[in-house]
Amino acid sequence: MSTPNPNAAPKTDAPVVPTGGDSVSDLHRAHMIQMNDPVMLTADGVDDSPESDEPGEGGSDSVQGLHEVVMREQAEPRDGFEPIPFWVAVVCGGLLMWGGFYIGTNSADFRRDVFDDPDPQPTLVQGPAADPDPQTVDDLKAIGKQKYDAICAACHLPDGKGKPSEQPPIPPLDRSEWVAGDKATPARLSRILLYGLKGPIEVDGKQFSGTGTAMPAHGSLLKDYEIAGVLTHIRNSWSNKADADNAKPAITGAIVKAARAKEKDGKRATNGTEQVTVEELLNLARDYADPPAAKK
Ligand code: HEC
Repeated sequence: MSTPNPNAAPKTDAPVVPTGGDSVSDLHRAHMIQMNDPVMLTADGVDDSPESDEPGEGGSDSVQGLHEVVMREQAEPRDGFEPIPFWVAVVCGGLLMWGGFYIGTNSADFRRDVFDDPDPQPTLVQGPAADPDPQTVDDLKAIGKQKYDAICAACHLPDGKGKPSEQPPIPPLDRSEWVAGDKATPARLSRILLYGLKGPIEVDGKQFSGTGTAMPAHGSLLKDYEIAGVLTHIRNSWSNKADADNAKPAITGAIVKAARAKEKDGKRATNGTEQVTVEELLNLARDYADPPAAKK
C-alpha cells in the first residue's frame, strides 16, 4: 500500500499513468491503484470496458461502476420542483383530450349563426296576416257595428232613423225596403256600399231627391269582409230582419267580393265617381246573385 501522494492529481500526474492516459477510465484506474482506496475499488457497478478483464487490476472496473451509479442518480428535487406523480399526468392528459373532444364536437365550427332561431315563426316572414273571413251573423255584426258607429252613424244616426226631415235629407236604414225589405238583395246592397248612390230614391214611403248630398262610396275605405259586416249589421238591427223568415241573415265577404269583381271586371271606381243609381239597382233582378269571384 503506497502512501497517497497529494500531488498525484489525475491531470497533473497524467504522465505517470502507466497505461493509456488519454481516457478518463485509464486516468481513474491509475489514480485508484495509486491510492488503493478500498471503498472505490469495491464500489458496486458494472464495467464492461475491455480493461476490466485485464489481470491485476481488480478494482478498476468497480471505479467505473461507481461512476455509472453516480451518473445514474438524479439530482435531489428542490422544493416546488418535485416531479409530478404519474397519475396526475394521466388525469391531466385525459382532461385535455376530453376538452379537445368536447370543443370539436360542440363548437359547430365556431359559426355565429348557430344561435339563430332555427324555426322562426311563420308570421315573421309572411308579413301581415290574411284578412279574417267571418261567416256567422254574430261575427259579421260585431265587425259591422264597429264600422257603422264609426262611419255610417254620422249620417244615418246610431238608431238607423236617418235625418229625413233635415236639409239635405238622409234616408233611414231602419225599416228601409232597400236594407231588409222587398227591394233588398245582397247584390244591390253591395253596390250601394262599394260605389255609393246618387239620384232620387224612395225609402219607407218617402221620396229622397238625392240632391244636396249623396251616399258616399266605401269600396276603397272598407274591405270586403268589413262591408259584409256592416250590411249584416244593418239588416239585423233595430226593427230590421234580413228577410221575411230571416233565412239568409248574413252577407259574407265572398258576396261583396263577387259584386266588386263583376262590375266592369273589377275596374269600377270606388272613389265616388261612379256611383250607382236606383235604375241600375232595379236592373239587377230580385234573385240575381253575382257569380263567385275567382280565388286570388
Ligand atoms: C255623408 C252621409 C252618409 C254616410 C256617411 C252614409 N250614407 Fe248612406 N246614404 C246617404 C244618403 C244621402 C243616401 C241617399 C242617396 C240618394 O238619395 O241617392 C244614402 C243611402 C243609403 C242607402 C240606401 C237607402 C236606404 O236608406 O236604405 C243605404 C242602404 C245606405 N245609405 C247605407 C249606408 C251605410 C251602411 C253607411 C256606412 C257604411 C252609409 N250609408 C254612410 C248618406 C250617407
